[in-house]
Amino acid sequence: MIRKPFIAGNWKMNMTAESGAKLIKELAPLVANANCDVALCVPAILIPAMTEAAKGTNIAIGAENVHWAESGAYTGEISCAQLKEYGVKYAIIGHSERRQYFGETDEGVNKRTLAALANGITPIVCVGETLAEREGGVTEKVLDKQLADGLKGVEDVAKVVIAYEPVWASGTGRTATDAQAQETIAYIRKKIGQLFCPKCAEKVIIQYGGSMNAGNCKGLMAQPDIDGGLIGGASLKLDFATIVNFDK
Ligand code: 13P
Repeated sequence: MIRKPFIAGNWKMNMTAESGAKLIKELAPLVANANCDVALCVPAILIPAMTEAAKGTNIAIGAENVHWAESGAYTGEISCAQLKEYGVKYAIIGHSERRQYFGETDEGVNKRTLAALANGITPIVCVGETLAEREGGVTEKVLDKQLADGLKGVEDVAKVVIAYEPVWASGTGRTATDAQAQETIAYIRKKIGQLFCPKCAEKVIIQYGGSMNAGNCKGLMAQPDIDGGLIGGASLKLDFATIVNFDK
């Protein structure tokens, strides 16, 4: 099964309309011949300007979250329809920072994921354990729950992108080793196979995220189960192009 690699940036709460557009203009020629899918997930307020800046390039613009309801009294949230108005193709869902700082739960992740799928937006569903969980030997148990509850009711799991982001490696400069990331992502694929079907699991793009950078991307991307990256800090600079071109 050939899975097309997918490198996505997550700008988090960084950049402005001006600095973001400048970066996209500089990145565009550097990533134009990529052999992978390329996206930048940006703060909601920047989506219109970044969509404009990325027009005519192979950089897709994604969101950092999406709400499940069509519309209504959900102050501060953004709907699928609002994202689709700007051609948004991807939405990160259940990022560890949303879970840690904003109380997002697997149940909410599930509702957001189902809404995105129903609206033709590819959800990038984030899973991953904390340092205490890894050291306590419960990584697999944590992932089991995040996957089972987060993906409940999904009809075609191949339409979901999974990002394995160990919380201890996100924004810390501490990366999982190639072997650690491979082992855990292979476990995630096996679990998806059990929850859905083994053949479906072979089609699912699973990214690694957590201090992935221009220096360590080749080793991570060489692992058989790692299909891409969700890049935080390094997506705020031209290093992102080096990661996109990991195979060159
Ligand atoms: P860093 O690449 O900055 O560690 O962030 C990873 C991440 O959380 C991407 O979603």
